Amino acid sequence: MSASPCLAVILAAGKGTRMKSDLPKVMHPLAGAPLIAHVLEAVREAEIGRVCAVVGPEMQSVGEAVKAVVPAAEIAVQEQQLGTADAVKAAGSAIAKEDGPVIVIYGDTPLLGAETLVALRDALEAGADLTVIGFEADNPTGYGRLLIDKSGALTGIREEKDADEAERALTLCNSGIMGFRSGEVLATLLARISNHNAKGEYYLTDAVSLARASGLQAKMLRAEMRDVLGVNSRGELAEAEAAIQTRLRSKFMADGATLIAPETVFFSHDTTIGRDVLIEPNVIFGPGVVIGDGVTIRGFSHIAGARIEAGATVGPFARLRPGAAIGEGAHIGNFVEIKQSDIAAGAKVNHLTYVGDASVGANANIGAGTITCNYDGIAKHRTEIGAGAFIGSNSSLVAPVKIGEGAYIGSGSVISKNVAPDALAVTRAPQEERASWAARHRARGARNAGRNKKT
Ligand code: UD1
Ligand code: CA
Repeated sequence: MSASPCLAVILAAGKGTRMKSDLPKVMHPLAGAPLIAHVLEAVREAEIGRVCAVVGPEMQSVGEAVKAVVPAAEIAVQEQQLGTADAVKAAGSAIAKEDGPVIVIYGDTPLLGAETLVALRDALEAGADLTVIGFEADNPTGYGRLLIDKSGALTGIREEKDADEAERALTLCNSGIMGFRSGEVLATLLARISNHNAKGEYYLTDAVSLARASGLQAKMLRAEMRDVLGVNSRGELAEAEAAIQTRLRSKFMADGATLIAPETVFFSHDTTIGRDVLIEPNVIFGPGVVIGDGVTIRGFSHIAGARIEAGATVGPFARLRPGAAIGEGAHIGNFVEIKQSDIAAGAKVNHLTYVGDASVGANANIGAGTITCNYDGIAKHRTEIGAGAFIGSNSSLVAPVKIGEGAYIGSGSVISKNVAPDALAVTRAPQEERASWAARHRARGARNAGRNKKT
């Protein structure tokens, strides 16, 4: 934790009307984690010791998402959504206690990196009273515009709805990230903010002109738009997703993974990948995936909550669900689904198989079309397959059941009782053969067709 005190106030009480959703806006996922979790991750990485998140009433899920990343965070409730300055006021008691800088961050700015926050804190510690992170927008629609005077000084922020035509043409925008030298400076400015504007809201952005009017110094630091993009709509959520995926792909390639078609691979915020991993096109990672060195993930695989050890091969068209643990050098082939199961080193599950709630011993071979029947309609049961066992194709293993080490299961068997090590178990009906039956069958068919024609 950083030696110098600093408070981050995260605003997340807005309804997010433009998302047209029952879910609070900041809870919409980006690379598998809520928007607000990304913001908090940056705050944590910047070693900002104190965090206060402002949530709306009945937004318990938001408070929980905050505490999942920063357990010590304070949660303040803004009863009515009267604007960003009003939301900051809801964090008043946390702000009053802060002698060091206070940084206000909007919970809908998920691409924010720790380096931007560190630069802002440095500027405040160097004596700036108020500092705003600005950016040059390709399309400034929806953002507040930064007003700069002839000497290059920041004089105010104009919200889009209050802007005249000339102001709307400005492309230097407010990212929403704003720092204050101390809790006291912020509290003094907050007390003066009114709601005399187009939206009838208390705008935090008015703090800039008020600071100037009372002789305080207001500064601007620049960031790249891709780092401070605000998410207000589903379209912007998709833009943010594209940006974060680009970042994750670059990071994994830099760390030594080969992505044949990076733009077709989708990662989760927490995916972990070793060196010399090959990922073929069209692979999707859900949360909680850890991949060891030298693993190959072949095309069109979907992987979530799975651990894949060194040298294993997965796919193409494999589905690994939570709790799948694939051992060293194991092979998981096409149209195979694995859930809550340990597949030990060197085991092969190569074709058209469902393995759920099971353990598969080292070097076992699971034939094509094997199904672990883990669910009886009421409860789930386990299947244990010993090391070196051979499960013949198209077998059903009705759990709970154990197949001993080195045992063989004849193809097409339905196994509902335990099988001893090194035994053969087979439950097929004996094969019957009727000589020339097919020829007689065809002859009968031909006679009938002839008769039908005459009538
Ligand atoms: C805000 C800024 C704008 C800036 C943009 C950057 C204001 C007035 N405008 O506009 O200058 O360019 O962000 O993305 O600040 N919130 C509350 N309570 C409220 C209102 C909002 O907690 O009463 C929270 C929202 O949950 C959100 C954040 O504050 O996380 C920003 O609110 P939003 O409505 O998205 O502001 P913008 O219109 O994007
Ligand atoms: Ca916003």
